[in-house]
Amino acid sequence: MDTQLLSTNPTITIGESLTFQVAAEDVIQVQGVTKVYGSGSNTVYAAEDVTFQVRKGEFVGLVGPSGSGKTTMLAILAALLQPTEGQVSIDGYDIVAMKESQRVRFRRERIGFTFQANNLVPYLTVRENVELMLRLNGRLNRQGRERVVELLDRLGLSERLNSLPNQLSGGQKQRVAIARSLIHEPSLVLADEPTASLDTERAYQVTQLYADLIHEQDKAGIMVTHDLRMCRYVDKLIQMKDGKIEAVYEGNQAIERAINGYH
Ligand SMILES: Nc1ncnc2c1ncn2[C@@H]1O[C@H](COP(=O)(O)OP(=O)(O)OP(=O)(O)O)[C@@H](O)[C@H]1O
Ligand SMILES: [Mg+2]
Repeated sequence: MDTQLLSTNPTITIGESLTFQVAAEDVIQVQGVTKVYGSGSNTVYAAEDVTFQVRKGEFVGLVGPSGSGKTTMLAILAALLQPTEGQVSIDGYDIVAMKESQRVRFRRERIGFTFQANNLVPYLTVRENVELMLRLNGRLNRQGRERVVELLDRLGLSERLNSLPNQLSGGQKQRVAIARSLIHEPSLVLADEPTASLDTERAYQVTQLYADLIHEQDKAGIMVTHDLRMCRYVDKLIQMKDGKIEAVYEGNQAIERAINGYH
């Protein structure tokens, strides 16, 4: 892959009071995070005292039953949702303490996400959808345009650069969404059920590609999935239940056991 994809982001200055002391390799530090919805008899603990870390180059699978808090955690990490309690640092920045305007910029520069409904802009071509992330960051120059074409080529989409989203298959759209989540070189890549609309074979391919890109580019990545089989590509597996972390599996054998249900 083009080494320019590995070049560093322009740094953002947010103020020293927002920086954390974190281990050098940790991109994400989540400490005692709780998210409460409602009040009285309607109180829901969507997340409860959640603590974990994700290192550079680590691809994490986040699994658990429906309603266990996976999307809630992803939204908190994407700086889209404020926790009720607890600390979240990304690249050493305290994203909970940031002002909303700082958070908007932080999100745009340092975070890439794909959601199940991949939200491609319907009237923009494949190439333009991916370029959009660079445009928003003021980085759409000749070099940026070349990187878009290279990344789309890597994702097997070089024949589809000028297609509109509604001319693509589900798997192709998903790969465009993955390109868009990586092109601005974020530190943290988040994906909520990225393979939900794909057949098994295609889902394996997309997940493997995703894992490869995260490893090659030394990002931290979290993928929420209902499908444990997709976790064969992860470095760490976090299982949630009722808003809490139920188990964490690390290392090939542990993850194999979890996938095969021997836990
Ligand atoms: N805006 C909200 N208001 C009230 N309760 C909410 C809200 N958003 C989520 N919840 C509740 O929080 C809990 C966790 O929801 P979340 O969406 O994080 O689950 P999930 O693990 O992503 O589930 P799924 O696998 O079905 O997507 C659920 O009980 C849900 O009903
Ligand atoms: Mg969800």
